[in-house]
This record gives sequence, C-alpha cells and structure tokens, in this order.
Amino acid sequence: MTTTYNIAIDGPAGAGKSTIAKLTARKLGFVYVDTGAMYRAMALYFLRNGIGKDDEKAVGEACEAMDISLQYRDGVQQVLLNGEDVSGLIRTEEVSQMTSAVSVYPAVRQKLLQLQRELARTEDVIMDGRDIGTCVLPDAETKIYLTASPRVRALRRFKELEERGETCNLEEIEQDIRERDDRDMNREIAPLKQAEDAVCIDSSQMTIDQVVQAITEAAMARGLGNGR
Ligand code: DC
Repeated sequence: MTTTYNIAIDGPAGAGKSTIAKLTARKLGFVYVDTGAMYRAMALYFLRNGIGKDDEKAVGEACEAMDISLQYRDGVQQVLLNGEDVSGLIRTEEVSQMTSAVSVYPAVRQKLLQLQRELARTEDVIMDGRDIGTCVLPDAETKIYLTASPRVRALRRFKELEERGETCNLEEIEQDIRERDDRDMNREIAPLKQAEDAVCIDSSQMTIDQVVQAITEAAMARGLGNGR
C-alpha cells in the first residue's frame, strides 16, 4: 500500500507545466519529477550517436545501451545520461523535435516507466509529462490537465527566447507547437489526453500564482493535508 501522495500534471508543450510544478512542489514540500527531461536525455543520446528518428530498430537497441537516472542538487532535478549531467543540453529545438518523434516507440516509453513509478512509490511527487495521469500513475491522488491556447503557448515561448537574446519567429514557434501537439496527442501508445478524473486548468488567462493556488486547492480537496 502506498503511503505517498502523488500529483500528476499532464498537458501540451508550453502550457507551463514545469514552471508551475516546480513552484507547487516547493510550496508543498514535494519532489518535482520532470519526465520530459528524461525523454529529452534519451533523444540527446540518439542525436549524439547518429540514430535516425525513423529507425525504430536502432532506437530499441540504443535504449538497452543507455542509462537514465535523476539526481537532485539543492532541490533541483538533474537528469543523467550514462552518469553525465545533460540537463543543460536538452532544451534546444532540435532535441524537442527528436524527443517528440522518438517518444512514440514502446522501447523508449518502457525504459522510463519503472523508474518513474519507483520515484512516485518512494516520495511525495509532483510529476509532469503527457501520460502521467493516464498511464504512469493511474492511482495518483490528484490529476491535473494543464493547458492553454496554442497562441498563448507560442507567445510565452517567444518571450522566453527573446529574453535569452535568441532570434525567433512567432509564427514558426506556433507551427512547431501545433506539430508537437498533433504528434503527442495522436500517437498510438500513451498519447496525451486528459484523464477522466483529472481537473482541467486552462492557464491562458491565469497568472502563475493563480494556477499554483488552483492545484493546491485541488490537492487539498483530494485529501492532501488531511493526514496524507
Ligand atoms: O514536457 P517536454 O516538452 O519537456 O516533453 C518533450 C517531449 O517528450 C514531448 O513532446 C513528448 C515527450 N514526452 C512524453 O512522451 N511523455 C512524457 N511523460 C513526457 C514527455
């Protein structure tokens, strides 16, 4: 029997899952698990080793050759690829597209499933991704589906890149987001969709604090703080 309390947050790219989950985890004293980073680290391995996104056989073999693990430094998650901290190398557009493409393969998903479940079994976690409430943690005490319109998500990404001094084009960003949505929602295995028992939060018109508050209230309504 589980004695941990788990919050699953799923939603499309750019909905603000990681920002929100990180802040909520800090507020509630939970461990934040960013599953996208784990898929991204795998994609980085394929890119580094010249493995094409359409070569399912090579992807499957490579899955056996790599080790993905997490460590926390000052409460911040770092993802390790064969022992190397690759957290700073996985946020490029190239890695994003590769990740979305290879995360359709069963071998890739299987590789991370047990590790994700084990973390949730041993810690109070807020875990974000695409299939957390539907597949990874179907018994999570609280499930959130966090979304926002494609335009709002593209604008947020645009501002982020601008602040970093990178040149970018809003239309192209929105197009990339729509493509990733399409792939993530329509793949055969573990597609992105709202779990039946998830609370849907559309953050298009909400501040970060309002979303954190809404998640905290949803969790309290589902037993958090009530002896859990
Ligand atoms: O959350 P993110 O943008 O870092 O995720 C990158 C990609 O990883 C996303 O396009 C789909 C894939 N992913 C997944 O298939 N399942 C998850 N639980 C998390 C991410």
